[in-house]
Amino acid sequence: MLLEMDRNDALTPEADPAFRADVLAGLLAPQKAIPARWFYDHRGSELFEEITDLPEYYPTRTERGLLERHAPDVARIAGAGRAVVEFGSGSSAKTPLLLSAIDPSAYVPIDISGEFLRESADALAQRFPSLPVHPIEANFMHPIALPPAIGQAPRLGFFPGSTVGNLTAPTAIDLLRAMAGTLGVGAMLLIGMDRVKDEAELVAAYDDAQGVTAAFNLNLLHRINRELGADIPIDAFRHVARWNDAEARIEMHLETARDIAFSVSGQHYAMRSGETIHTENSHKYDRRGARLLLAAGGWSTIAEWTDPQDRFAIMLAEVKPPRTAP
Ligand code: AVJ
Repeated sequence: MLLEMDRNDALTPEADPAFRADVLAGLLAPQKAIPARWFYDHRGSELFEEITDLPEYYPTRTERGLLERHAPDVARIAGAGRAVVEFGSGSSAKTPLLLSAIDPSAYVPIDISGEFLRESADALAQRFPSLPVHPIEANFMHPIALPPAIGQAPRLGFFPGSTVGNLTAPTAIDLLRAMAGTLGVGAMLLIGMDRVKDEAELVAAYDDAQGVTAAFNLNLLHRINRELGADIPIDAFRHVARWNDAEARIEMHLETARDIAFSVSGQHYAMRSGETIHTENSHKYDRRGARLLLAAGGWSTIAEWTDPQDRFAIMLAEVKPPRTAP
């Protein structure tokens, strides 16, 4: 009785209808799949922060090093006085590296998590007291109207972290086009993209020795059980990270070691031993692939910087004027 009430409580106000819809539909597909954005509840965000410090997880520290070294180059090319618009700003951990180099006229962080957004926007406003900061709580996958208060200054979009790698090509291209529309005439975009590299190094980055990435992946099942009134036997699952060479991506899956049955919000599901739930894609790009993706999204690459081992790239692009070929 009490258990039943607890479960109903958990079901009522917090359960995000979009989360429920994605999970219920995703578990009906022949290859079960749940969008990666649902990893980031409070615990998931904490675990991701831990991932960025792991010895195997090179992207965060490599990109930070690139920004430290090359923000002055970005400043030289982009010029002073731009409004910096950051997509999926999260903790804004890398933002000061850019802001302190380029003398911006305003900073507009966009994030879906309002609480996180306001905290990090406050911290940034304190660090840059004369910089107007205008946070926007929104899903950056949809077109966004920028605040009129930032005026007509040209924009510099900032999309670090290789977050674009979570998206398949058509979705990534839609997003890049939407960004071009949001940012407008004369805009530039500074985007981080992880490079194709040795398979062992890639797999290790997504299957670390301490098991933090496994905990991050499995946390999604805990979230489903808690928020969607589900009874998934989490102990049946193990974390799998594999390189899909044809698609140039790391895939994360949750694989069941035995036949199981469970329910989510009253819907019944079964999985056979060895079957997986696909939880994340992390696409990797070589130099030409990165440029082609940007071009398809309406951006021409002006400059790019990589580390000596070519593990990660930051690319600076400008909105491509429409033109007939060739
Ligand atoms: C935040 C999407 C860039 O793909 O590397 C890290 C997420 N997943 N370890 C990535 C992630 C597992 C990360 N991104």
